[in-house]
Amino acid sequence: MFDRKKPVTTAELRKMKKEGRKIAMITAYDYPSAMLAEQAGADVILVGDSLGMVVLGYDSTIPVTLSDMLHHTKAVTRAVKHSFVVVDMPFLTYHGQVEHTLQNAGRLMQEGFAKAVKMEGGAEIADAVEACVRAGIPVMGHIGLTPQSVHQLGGYKVQGKRPEQAKKLLDDAKRLEQAGVFSIVLELVPEEAAEQITEAVSVPTIGIGAGRYCDGQVLVFHDMLQYAGPNTKKMVKAYANLHQHIARGIADYVREVKSGTFPGEDNVFHADEAVPADARTYS
Ligand code: KIV
Repeated sequence: MFDRKKPVTTAELRKMKKEGRKIAMITAYDYPSAMLAEQAGADVILVGDSLGMVVLGYDSTIPVTLSDMLHHTKAVTRAVKHSFVVVDMPFLTYHGQVEHTLQNAGRLMQEGFAKAVKMEGGAEIADAVEACVRAGIPVMGHIGLTPQSVHQLGGYKVQGKRPEQAKKLLDDAKRLEQAGVFSIVLELVPEEAAEQITEAVSVPTIGIGAGRYCDGQVLVFHDMLQYAGPNTKKMVKAYANLHQHIARGIADYVREVKSGTFPGEDNVFHADEAVPADARTYS
């Protein structure tokens, strides 16, 4: 078990970039997943709106609401003492009036106890980032494949393959840095572009499908552990095979219930032996 002495801060994450120490981030959506992530030494735990797909069964992150995020963030922060907990602002909760953005981000911090929020987008969300940062809310940026815009992007595709697209990503990263983000997620970006962005900004970049040169990496809990099924994504490495273990365990249980093998002697309680046998018949 990883024994961290001090809570991770945005300053520590910046220091890690400066010193070339890689940042490990993983998503979590509930108490046990957060507890396991912290115990394993994750620097950052993201309550991702990917929960819409991997936990709630939607086919995109778009239906996820602020109250969904709050519910799961509360469960995660109850389990975490030292990792830095970031929560995704869901679809359309940071695009209207600045007051609306501040109110939504404020709820995720005051009621959910997150340490920071994450927003998808580049220059177009710089005003929202600036307003939050001015109000003392740390913001993590997210560019490249931004899943909340999947219908605009035409699918979950690598972004920035062409030089002019890579240049736009670089400009967005610089604008977000200027707006005050403490870190930027790069999702599904060619390694070459991610490397240039990482060199060009002073804040740490966290890659997912963005190659080896980012300052850190993030993976979705259910993907890396193959919780909901076998891994089919190139950007994911499978570190365990949970769905197989779980499926076997549940199938064994069902079989034993049906055959009468469970519960066995180890699983039952007996009446107090001091009570005479005839007094143990209740009818
Ligand atoms: O929602 C999420 O899990 C994310 C990560 C993929 C970065 O945004």
